[in-house]
Amino acid sequence: MDEHGATLQIGDRSLELPAVPAHQGNSGVDISKLRAAEGIVTFDPGFANTASAQSTITYIDGTAGKLTHRGYAIEELANSCSFLEVAYLLLFGHLPNKNQLEQWQDSMKRHSLLNEELKRFFNAFPKRAHPMAILSSATNAISTFYEEYHDPQDEEAIVQSAQRLLAKMPTVAAWSYKKSTGFPYIYPRNDLSYVENFLHMMFALPTEPYHVDPVITKALNVLLILHADHGQNCSTATVRFVGSSQANLFASVAAGMNALWGPLHGGANQKVVEMLSDIANDPDATTESYIARAKDKNDPFRLMGFGHRVYKNYDPRARILKKFADDVLDRVKGDDPLLEVAQQLEETALNDEYFASRNLYPNVDFYSGIIFRALGFPLRMFTVLFAIGRLPGWIANWKEMNEDPTTRIARPRQIYIGEESRKFVPLHQR
Ligand code: SDX
Repeated sequence: MDEHGATLQIGDRSLELPAVPAHQGNSGVDISKLRAAEGIVTFDPGFANTASAQSTITYIDGTAGKLTHRGYAIEELANSCSFLEVAYLLLFGHLPNKNQLEQWQDSMKRHSLLNEELKRFFNAFPKRAHPMAILSSATNAISTFYEEYHDPQDEEAIVQSAQRLLAKMPTVAAWSYKKSTGFPYIYPRNDLSYVENFLHMMFALPTEPYHVDPVITKALNVLLILHADHGQNCSTATVRFVGSSQANLFASVAAGMNALWGPLHGGANQKVVEMLSDIANDPDATTESYIARAKDKNDPFRLMGFGHRVYKNYDPRARILKKFADDVLDRVKGDDPLLEVAQQLEETALNDEYFASRNLYPNVDFYSGIIFRALGFPLRMFTVLFAIGRLPGWIANWKEMNEDPTTRIARPRQIYIGEESRKFVPLHQR
């Protein structure tokens, strides 16, 4: 491979594969002529070696364990920005100035209410409904009120849909939680910031004033920023896949939410806390016994929150969260035995050849659930919090895809290994 590309030798024929150069990280080769020229396709389960897009939004250096959004290091954004600032950066490509940020914050306030007809929608769910099921369903339901903004080729419509999704998601999330408690829905308030409003709708009751703790507000801003975008992960790739058929933004994001819910992806933060609780409550548990289970191919147990397709080093988000967990617990909740279990598991795993040889490190989900728990969120809301954080990343990728003139509908090929032609047998003879 050189700056021009690569040459594929097939028998006595050779095919030039033009280079697709990267500004950072892996460059690629264009194989779009391969099937027409040679009648073969590439095979890459899970797309571990296949780029599905050219993007300017996020760069992940998996070897060094570094993450940047539009060129800014995640550590700087987490320390210095609000979540809405980072959402603006992801969507529009630059950090907002004071005036732009004020207008952006104001637009979030003005669109945070849900249409009153949606209340019946929430009441249709059973009390025990998982809030991720409500979130993805509500995202499609909200779209029915904004059909005038569905056109993926209309720039203004894209901004209008993006604002409504970002503004209403905290309200949907909080109401899905209230639904499970039987307590009244709390309406958004325009005197509160985006994160303060979400906390207020989540935890306030109409019977008494609710004080939004600034420590929790700051912590949740950081947590949402750390989840804001992450390249072509499973849920973002799903949003692009669905959007490539020119489905509207709401439908594409709803699909991404369902992908995120999986325990190998965003559902892992809930699974990590369940795993830590099981270990903490198991009188016979030792860190070593659970690490041995994680290594045992005959045991379905995996060390949830560990490993990553791209990071072969410590996930920089996990590094920030590990430090953050101590601060938040000290300030908000006091000790949590699950943090000690997590730290022991991490220390044992990082010194174990099985994990070291496979470059398995803690990922963003390993510590996030402990912090969500310390902030007072119930377990089944953890992936919803991940979804609120990831929403601007999904929207930015969907927008970038729709603005890319080379975008085509996603339609992968397959390697068929099924039956060849068989003689049909009528029912009465079977
Ligand atoms: C997220 O892609 C993203 O960017 C995702 C994300 C984002 O911000 O969008 O970062 C968010 O989804 C983080 C990941 C959350 N999931 C988990 O924590 C679940 C536990 N982790 C794994 O299931 C796994 O590590 C994945 C799903 C994260 C990655 O899977 P890969 O890349 O397909 O890796 P693999 O399953 O092929 O594992 C390689 C080897 C295997 O062993 P061998 O076949 O080589 O013997 O490592 C082993 C695996 O068995 N392995 C683990 C392990 N993770 C991988 N063994 C024990 N415990 C684990 N957690």
